[in-house]
Amino acid sequence: MKIVVIGGGGLIGKKLVTRLHERGHEAVTASPSSGVNAVTGAGLADVLVDADVVVDVTNSPSFEDAAVLEFFEKSSRNLLAAEADAGVGNHVALSVVGADRVSDSGYLRAKVAQEKLIQAAGIPYTILRATQFFEFIGRITAQFPADGQTVRVPPAFIQPILSDDVVEVLVDVTLGAPANGIIDLAGPERFRFNEIIRHFLSSTQDTRQVVIDTHARYFGARLDKQSLVPRGNSHIGATHYKGWLSDSTVKT
Ligand SMILES: NC(=O)c1ccc[n+]([C@@H]2O[C@H](COP(=O)([O-])OP(=O)(O)OC[C@H]3O[C@@H](n4cnc5c(N)ncnc54)[C@H](OP(=O)(O)O)[C@@H]3O)[C@@H](O)[C@H]2O)c1
Repeated sequence: MKIVVIGGGGLIGKKLVTRLHERGHEAVTASPSSGVNAVTGAGLADVLVDADVVVDVTNSPSFEDAAVLEFFEKSSRNLLAAEADAGVGNHVALSVVGADRVSDSGYLRAKVAQEKLIQAAGIPYTILRATQFFEFIGRITAQFPADGQTVRVPPAFIQPILSDDVVEVLVDVTLGAPANGIIDLAGPERFRFNEIIRHFLSSTQDTRQVVIDTHARYFGARLDKQSLVPRGNSHIGATHYKGWLSDSTVKT
């Protein structure tokens, strides 16, 4: 199959392209670095010629509310229109577990807008919603309110997953029949934020204390306890966070 990976130069995209090649498919990297821009539409028609599947693993360069919404709306509209013109029969996209439950997050509102465009486009599709990647825990830690002594976190749960485990499932989704629906994917363990952030800080020799604060926000959004974790059935990745962190150079 010819599979075009939009955002194929990113964390998930690179690994996905490699895995699809290993499975004997023609996986094409498409991103601004390779001359394809989903926001402007540049290069899309050419790269989609004879494509069987398109996987969208792009991410917005800016997480600012208006910018991220514009990114996912424009890129999804352009992409889905170009796929319709090219006769692509399967669209796969990576989204976020609980995206529709955190309405005061500009980023997650943008992901929901992306999902809705996909669902309305009439092209067979699968949306894989993953929880936060292990590699993202450093960035999550850095955005919580903090001072020299403490980091304040909300009393919520997180069930993070290793990016390689996301790619594992994404390969199956890409090569399988479109589900025309949303599939949830999470890591094997559920943590409270205070536990995982404390563990991350101590692994990075950061001596600040972690304090639970019901007013602490996650990228500006209020979280309920269950906002970011799957409800009901979900696929579960194999890798455990603490073992991975102690085996790896800390990724922030
Ligand atoms: N981080 C998490 O914890 C998490 C959790 C669940 C779901 N997700 C979702 O996973 C997806 C992929 O995340 P990631 O961390 O792999 O992203 P990433 O490493 O930031 O990579 C983003 C990719 O998007 C490409 N891109 C940027 N602007 C583009 C444009 N205008 N047109 C086409 N491609 C463009 C980049 O191109 P270049 O290579 O040219 O720079 C890059 O290849 C995102 O949609 C995100 O919402 C993330």
